[in-house]
Amino acid sequence: MIDDAVKLVRLARRPVSLSGAGLSAESGLETFRGRDPEALWSKHDPLQMATPEAFEANPQQVTDWYAWRRKVLAQAEPNAAHRALASRESMLHVTQNVDDLLERAGAREVIHLHGTIGRNHCAANCGHEEAIDMADPPPLAPCPTCGKWMRPSVVWFGESLPEAALEGAIEACVECDLLLVIGTSATVNPAASLIPLAKEASARVVLVNTEETEAGRFADVEIIGKAGEVLPKLLG
Ligand code: OAD
Repeated sequence: MIDDAVKLVRLARRPVSLSGAGLSAESGLETFRGRDPEALWSKHDPLQMATPEAFEANPQQVTDWYAWRRKVLAQAEPNAAHRALASRESMLHVTQNVDDLLERAGAREVIHLHGTIGRNHCAANCGHEEAIDMADPPPLAPCPTCGKWMRPSVVWFGESLPEAALEGAIEACVECDLLLVIGTSATVNPAASLIPLAKEASARVVLVNTEETEAGRFADVEIIGKAGEVLPKLLG
């Protein structure tokens, strides 16, 4: 399996990665789903933490939860999988992750489908936005421009993805000759739909995950293993 995947990765001229929370798991960031009992959606209700309605109903609770995640991220370091991906300079990275670990590993081109936890913007969309200090995240605060609450610049359930990010990801997946899919349960659309899209457009698909997923049916090669152990072998 690894040898087949190594060949596909080496031969690729337009490789693209599509990653999910499993990519950052070995950096100490919890995934949302999967067998891990600590997975975020096993401990928290996404409807209470990751929807615009949840923020409207209880902005303090949502802000505190993101402050906790921000502090964890401030302490985290890129792992061997981030470094291996970043080392392939011609690879474009599409990620569902809101962390900046790919960038910190040196990746040049990263498309964040679900936004970034490193910024806040006005919940009323007046246009005000700001970078935040992850080690010392701001408390719930009003927008300095319009007085509505500031919120994390991430995509919540029920919200549209940033248009430019989605368009860029679709174009990359249609044009790539290899899609390397890492650490995603492939359950959330439209991100998950990029996998069949690339396959139909004739890319080879390699999956790396600690468990089998629905996306397996689109894979040319499916490798069950930890991203931090598998990716250095594929890309080294
Ligand atoms: P999930 O938590 O749904 O899936 C993580 C996947 O990573 C699972 O399939 C695990 O088996 C796998 N995994 C865990 N550790 C791994 C490791 N060390 N190496 C390789 N694989 C590993 O995360 P996503 O698919 O990213 O959205 O979830 C998609 C979206 O759902 C997220 O962006 C988030 C979430 O709700 C929002 O918050 C809007």
